[in-house]
Parts: sequence; C-alpha cells; structure tokens
Amino acid sequence: EDAAGKCPFSREAEEFDAFSDRYQSDPAEALRWSRDQKPVFFSPKLGYWVVSRYDDIKAVFRDNSIFSPRIALEKITPATPEAVEVLKTYGYAMNRTLVNEDEPAHMERRRVLMDHFFPENLEAKQEMVRRLTREKVDAFIDSGRVDLVEAMLYEVPLNVALHFLGVPEDDINVLRNFSVAHSVNTWGRPSDEKQLAVAHDVGQFWVYAGKIIERMKNEPEGTGWMHETIRKNAEMPDIVPDSYVHSMMMAIIVAAHETTSLASANMFKTLLSHRQAWEDICQDASLIPNAVEECLRYSGSIVAWRRQTTAKTRLGGVDLPEGAKLLIVQASGNQDERHFEDGDTFDIYRDNAVDHLTFGYGSHQCMGKNIGRMEMRVFLEEVSRRIPHLQLADQEFRYLPTTSFRGPDHVWVEWDPEKNPERQKP
Ligand code: HEM
Repeated sequence: EDAAGKCPFSREAEEFDAFSDRYQSDPAEALRWSRDQKPVFFSPKLGYWVVSRYDDIKAVFRDNSIFSPRIALEKITPATPEAVEVLKTYGYAMNRTLVNEDEPAHMERRRVLMDHFFPENLEAKQEMVRRLTREKVDAFIDSGRVDLVEAMLYEVPLNVALHFLGVPEDDINVLRNFSVAHSVNTWGRPSDEKQLAVAHDVGQFWVYAGKIIERMKNEPEGTGWMHETIRKNAEMPDIVPDSYVHSMMMAIIVAAHETTSLASANMFKTLLSHRQAWEDICQDASLIPNAVEECLRYSGSIVAWRRQTTAKTRLGGVDLPEGAKLLIVQASGNQDERHFEDGDTFDIYRDNAVDHLTFGYGSHQCMGKNIGRMEMRVFLEEVSRRIPHLQLADQEFRYLPTTSFRGPDHVWVEWDPEKNPERQKP
C-alpha cells in the first residue's frame, strides 16, 4: 500500500489511460506492471477490462462464444449527439462484417468467402507487389533522403489492397482521409469538435463505399474479392447480406491497407534502429521471413483488440460480469516473458516469433495475414538489397492516437547514393 492507503497497482489501474503518451509510445512497456501484478484489471477511464498477458489474451481469442467479437468495430469514444445526427444524414449504418460477427453466421460467411485467400491465389500477387515496390525504389534511390511512408509504404499496400478487392484505384488522397477518419472514429478519442469533422468524413466514406458497390455490380465478370462478395450476396443473401457488403466495403479498405502500411513502417523503424539485425538481413536475405515475424511481434500495427463477455466468467483469476468490455492488448502479450524469453528484446533469430498475436488468433484470425506478410517481405528484400547503407534520419516519430492501430506517420531515411551497390562497377 502507498501513503494514501491504496494498493499501488489499483492506482495504476485507476490511472491507466490508453490515450496517454505512455501507452501510445510503448503499449507493452506501459502495461509491464499489469503483466507482473494485475494481468486483468478494470480501467475506469476507458470503461474496459484490460487484459495484458499472453495466455489470457489467447484464451479470449480462443473462445468467441463467451468472448464475443461484436464490439470490435464499436466507437470506443461514444459519438456526441451532434455527431450521431451528422452520421444519420449520410445514412451511415455500419453493421456486422466478419471481424465483429458472432457464430454461427461468422463461420458460414467466412467459409464461402475464403477462396481468394488461399496461398496459391496469393502467389500470383507477389509479382505485382515486387513490380510496384521496384518502381517506387527506382524513383527515390538516387535522392539520398526520403520518407519511406510517403514514398512507398502507404501507396503500395493501398494499391495491392484495391487490386485484391477489385476496387477501382480512385483518388488515393480521398481514401487516405477516409481511412484516418475511420480509425479515429472507431479507435480514437476525438474532441467534441473533432467528432463533427470525423462524422462528416466517415459519412462520406460510407456513401462512397455504396457508390463503389453500385459501380461494381455493373461488372458481373469483375475479378477480386469484393466482386466475389457481390456475387455471393446475389446467390446467398442470407449468408452474405446487403448490410455486410456495404459495411465490409468500407471496413476492408482500412483493414487491408492501413494495417500493412503501419506494420511496414514499424518494421523499417525497428530494423534500422537495431543496426546489427539490419546488417544481418542485408548479408543474408533468408533471415527476412523470421525478421518480419519478429517485427510483427515486437512492434505490430494492431496493438489491441476488443471482445465482450456474453456471460459471467473468470479470466486470469478475475471474475468478469456478463457484458464486460475487454481491451486485449496484443502488444503486451507479444512481449510477455511468460511466453517470449526476454520479451522486450528485439531478436530476429527468436525461434517462436511467429507465435505473436498481432493477427489475432482462433476462428477470426486475420484472413489477409499472408498478404500482409508477403508485402512486408518484398519491401525488405528490395530495400535491403538495393540500399543496404540506409540509415534512419534524425526525427521525432508521430502516431495517430488510437487504442488499436499503431505506426509512425513518417519514417525519414538517408543514405549516400554514391555508395548504392548498383552504381558500383563490378
Ligand atoms: C482480421 C490484423 C492485414 C483482412 C484481423 C484481425 C486482426 C488483423 C488483429 C482480428 C483477428 C481476430 O479477431 O482474431 C491485421 C494485420 C495486418 C492485416 C496486423 C497486416 C500486417 C490484412 C489484409 C487483409 C486483411 C492485407 C485483406 C486483404 C482481414 C479480414 C479479417 C481480419 C477479412 C476478419 C477475419 C474474421 O473475422 O474472420 N486482421 N490484418 N487483413 N483481417 Fe487483417
């Protein structure tokens, strides 16, 4: 007990703030006390039970009947009445997709929409990713200084995602605005004033998603996952309903590209600030797949996800009431020493890196995980081979404050173009 007669760890729980600099700058470190002392605690500021240990998080992911995913896309900061009115004017009706759907509807839907994600269908995408990446690297390799996010890591995953979905590659800047609005709307803490601006952007995103669907319906032979979805909607509307198609069109653009862009930005930041690891992969590209997993473990782009209890239950020795909202912090589980030796150490040779929870776990586990991984591998292969002398520039990293999505806005890097290997005569 401290001087005020309160248990210090309860004080930590009381003061826990997912929007504080501490959590935002290093969620795993911010929850070390919890992993050690109080692995499941109620945060009054957030109104959520926070779960920080690897085994508990996995147990939650494993049982999606007691721990329903239905709140996964709920606004973590409730809308102001004014924002609700604004959203109404756009007919905004975000509903269940896959990630927040209960059983048995979820599995039935996931099954009929799975084919596009099979490895043999992904292999063909690798060439496109490599071509797009090479074009980007060609454009900046002689410049000596670039923001990797702006120059490559934002746009390539967006183009790959749109191609995979079969969505026309329209105005990228419009989509960028929309994605930020969707993230802030769902996982952020906008001020009352900001809520209005965000509501307008989200409303417009919703309308835009509806228009894309109408346009795609006019191309019955179209390729890509959303075309497939539209066909399944016509064939089996009870399994793939209209509300799903519209909600998914909006959610998937963010789910497929923002996650991958942010994970890639984290990856370059992490590797370039662990120079030996960077040099090792420049020497030996076969280390890249495990390095990607270790980056996803150590500094993933989804740091926390949500579930809600459907009945009274016990977790990590704590009794939870029915209807309890849970913030399960994968970033913390990913550094839990009970599962990962020296969990807070970055080690590309770690043999269980792939056990990380960044893609979730169980029946909702990320369907696009192998697309994301493949993109990250290609980025690393191309950049480490062509610009091994790359250095992280001096900079302050900025993050969009949300509970769940994490990655720097910019990653400035520098190098001497004179020393580019491709300029050296053999
Ligand atoms: C679900 C993370 C890339 C499509 C999820 C979930 C997470 C996640 C945490 C929820 C898992 C759960 O509840 O157990 C990531 C990360 C990515 C990434 C970190 C990149 C590094 C992608 C891509 C696509 C995609 C590229 C599509 C092309 C999906 C879908 C679901 C999902 C459809 C819902 C699955 C279900 O509920 O059955 N992802 N994702 N993701 N992700 Fe990803």
